[in-house]
Amino acid sequence: MNGQPAVSASAPGKMIILGEHSVVYGKPAVALAINKRFYCRVSRSGEMILNGRRVPAFVHPHISSVINDNGLSGISMDAGTQIPTSSGLGSSAALSSSLSLAVRKLLGKETDQESIAKDAFNAEWNAQGRASPIDTSTCTHGGGVALNCPAGIGRELWRISRNDRSWNVSEFDVPEMTFVVGHTGIKAPTGPLVEKVRKYKEHNRFASDIIDEIGLVTLQGMNAIRRRDKEDLGDIMTRNHKLLSILGVSCNELNKLVNASLPYSYGAKLTGSGGGGSMIALTDQPEKVCEAISLRGGRPIVVRTGEEGVRLEEGLPETIDCI
Ligand code: MEV
Repeated sequence: MNGQPAVSASAPGKMIILGEHSVVYGKPAVALAINKRFYCRVSRSGEMILNGRRVPAFVHPHISSVINDNGLSGISMDAGTQIPTSSGLGSSAALSSSLSLAVRKLLGKETDQESIAKDAFNAEWNAQGRASPIDTSTCTHGGGVALNCPAGIGRELWRISRNDRSWNVSEFDVPEMTFVVGHTGIKAPTGPLVEKVRKYKEHNRFASDIIDEIGLVTLQGMNAIRRRDKEDLGDIMTRNHKLLSILGVSCNELNKLVNASLPYSYGAKLTGSGGGGSMIALTDQPEKVCEAISLRGGRPIVVRTGEEGVRLEEGLPETIDCI
């Protein structure tokens, strides 16, 4: 780096198991942190330096939002990731959350999870035009996180409001379960898909009904998780996928991977914003699901849940992809 004192941090990726898109409109959602992380190391600089190269300050909206919110106009940042980008697995949220912790530590500011989750949500909002805190709160807190769950379910962590929307963020106890992620290999940034749903909803009453229905299905899924009922949860995930398809955010490649997984799974659905990116399957037969996904041209990863949230690191791991 530039000889200045440096701080390193990391945050996990996430997978949404129920409720993406409808959560933007204040409906409930559930997400889990996964064992793939984003790493960054920062030191003070008057300009924006990314992995040793000077870049325009606006080149990465999440980075500029976090550093501006913390009163800086530039930073020297080295970064690398295990989370495929634009894959529905929270790469931008993990970047924002880890960067917020590193910058706050560097500046001697508060490093509590709520402040970090709020910085990261702001970055997501600024970059996407509209967002919910599901990705950023999950990458910050780790484990299992539910938004807008009924009282008595989960332990409330913080509340985030923006314009006319408000989200209650809670820690949600999700038992150990095996998920396979299938990446289509198609990069699909979140912003345009969120915008597509917004336009559909604005022009068509039917889209609002689908969003309401996803909210109801998600509440049923939360109850299935509390009952530890994988059969029911799987059925609900598959119903959630069908509703997301009707909303126009799935694609042939995602549908192919979901259908290929179903014979060996409790249920399967796209995860994140869709349009490409990834799907997930809840299964006790991960090898069979991986094989089915590979045969259809997808890239399978068996993920571990229960991953720790944002944290300080000694430095960057030696073997990670640069962003
Ligand atoms: C993206 O991972 C999840 C969406 O619901 C957008 C958001 O909540 O900000 C599609």
